[in-house]
Amino acid sequence: MTASVSGAAKDRVLIFDTTLRDGEQCPGATMTLEEKLDVAELLDTMGVDIIEAGFPIASNGDFEAVSLIASRVKRATVAGLARAISADIARAGEAVRGAARPRIHTFVSTSPIHLAHQMRKSEEEVLEIITATVTQARNLVEDIEWSAMDATRTPIDYLCRCVEAAIKAGATTINLPDTVGYATPDEYRAMFRAVRERVPNADKAIFSAHCHNDLGLAVANSLAALEGGARQIECTLNGIGERAGNAALEEIVMAIRTRGDILPYETGVETTMLMRASKLASAATSFPVQYNKAIVGRNAFAHESGIHQDGMLKNAQTYEIMTPESVGVSKTSLVMGKHSGRAAFRNKLEELGYSLSDNQFQDAFERFKELADRKKHVYDEDIEALVDQNIATAHDRIRLVSLSIVAGTRGPQRATMKLQVDDKVVIEEQEGNGPVDATFNAIKALVPHDAVLELYQVHAVTEGTDAQAEVSVRLSADDRSVTSRAADPDTLVASAQAYLGALNKLLSRGARLHAQHAAE
Ligand code: KIV
Ligand code: ZN
Repeated sequence: MTASVSGAAKDRVLIFDTTLRDGEQCPGATMTLEEKLDVAELLDTMGVDIIEAGFPIASNGDFEAVSLIASRVKRATVAGLARAISADIARAGEAVRGAARPRIHTFVSTSPIHLAHQMRKSEEEVLEIITATVTQARNLVEDIEWSAMDATRTPIDYLCRCVEAAIKAGATTINLPDTVGYATPDEYRAMFRAVRERVPNADKAIFSAHCHNDLGLAVANSLAALEGGARQIECTLNGIGERAGNAALEEIVMAIRTRGDILPYETGVETTMLMRASKLASAATSFPVQYNKAIVGRNAFAHESGIHQDGMLKNAQTYEIMTPESVGVSKTSLVMGKHSGRAAFRNKLEELGYSLSDNQFQDAFERFKELADRKKHVYDEDIEALVDQNIATAHDRIRLVSLSIVAGTRGPQRATMKLQVDDKVVIEEQEGNGPVDATFNAIKALVPHDAVLELYQVHAVTEGTDAQAEVSVRLSADDRSVTSRAADPDTLVASAQAYLGALNKLLSRGARLHAQHAAE
C-alpha cells in the first residue's frame, strides 16, 4: 500500500501530528481541554493528515479530550494511543468512535532491553500479544497503527517477525520509532529498507517514522526514513515532546517543500499557517520557542550582519532559502498605538495569523487599549503576547482583580492582592522576602495549595524600559507539572498572572485548591 496521490509526480507524505500526545507528555507542557481543542482545530485546518489526540486510558481528562477532538475534527484522522493491553484498546476505541476517520494506535516494546527489563516477556510472548491486541483493535475500527517501541534497538530479524504479525492481524500503518533518539540517518533509512524488503506482506501497510531528538537528529532521521520507504512522519509543533522532544513538524514540512529538488515528496500542510500553529502551541503549553529555532524562531528571518543586510537589500535570495511569508511571517511591522482603532487592530491580528471569535476579539481589543495607554509603541510581539495570554486564560477560574506592592530598600516588602475565585472576590495582604515573594505569598494565602514552584523566569518582550515583562512560572503538584506565561509592563503583575495561570491549569487537571478568604 502506498500513500502516493494519483497523477502527482511527487509522493504524498502523511503528516501525523502528536503534539497533543507525545508533545503534551513532556514535563510542564500540560494543556487544558480548551487549549487542546484549539490546537486540534488549527491542525485540522492547516492540513495535517492524522492528529494523535491523546492517550485515552491515561485519565478521564485524556479520554474526554480525545472524544471531544474526535467529534470536532472534520477532515483529519483522529488517533487515540493504547498500550498492548485489552483495556487500553477498548478505551481508545471508545474515545475515537465519534471521529469521521478514527484510528487506534497501539504499541508494544520489541527491543531486548525493553523485553528483559520493562516487559519481562519472551520474544514469542510479545509476538502473541501483537496478534491478539491488533486483532482486538481491528475489530473496533478499520484504521490501525501498530508501533514497535524502541524499534531502532531491535534486532532486524525479530523486528521483521513482529511487523509481519501486526500486518497479518490487521495493522494498516506500521510505525518504527526511534524511541530513544539513538539512530543515525543512514541506520534509520537502512532499517526501513530492510523491513520493507524482507517482510512478505509489507506492501499492505504504510510505514511511518517517529523520531526523538536526543542527539539532535530527529528531523534528519525522519527525512532519511522517507528514502527508506516511509510515507508517514510523526512530529510535533515546535518539536516538543519527551526529553529532547520529537521531530519538529514545521521543519519537516519546510524541508520537504524547500528541497523539492532532492526530496521528491509533498505534504498537505498549508505552510503559511506554520507560524500561527507554533505560536498557539507555545501559548497553550507555555513553552517558549527558542529565538534561533528553525522556521518559527524569532530570529529565523532576521539578518543582523552588515554583509547579510546588504545582500538582502539587493536580492533576498542571497541569504534566504525560503520567504518569511511562506511560513506565515509578515514582513510589515506597523507599530500600533493608542490612536489605532478596531479596524487597524483587526488588520494587525489577521496579519499575525490570528482568527478570533467576536468575544475573543473584544477582550483582546480592550486589553490592547489598556496596554496602549501605558506604552507608547505597541509592537507585534506585544500584541502576540496579549492575544496568546487572552486565549490561554479564557476559561480561568481564578483571576487577578488588583495588586499593589510596597517595595524598595526599606523592607518588609508587602503585596495586597484581590482575586476573583469563581464568583467570589477575596483579598489578602502578605509580606515577603522581596516583592515577588510577597506576591506569591498573597496568592498562597488566598488559594492554599501544595504546588511547588519549579521555575520562575522573566524576560522582556521587546526592547526599552517600557517593554512588557514576560514571566514564565512552572508549578508541580500530584506528579503533574504545568507551565504558564503572562506579559505585562509591570513585572509583578505579570508574575502574579503567570502564577495564577499555572494554578488555573492545575485546577483544570483536578488538583485540590481552595479559596480561603471571603470577599470584603
Ligand atoms: O517514542 C515512541 O516510541 C512512542 C510510541 C508510543 C510510538 O511515542
Ligand atoms: Zn515518542
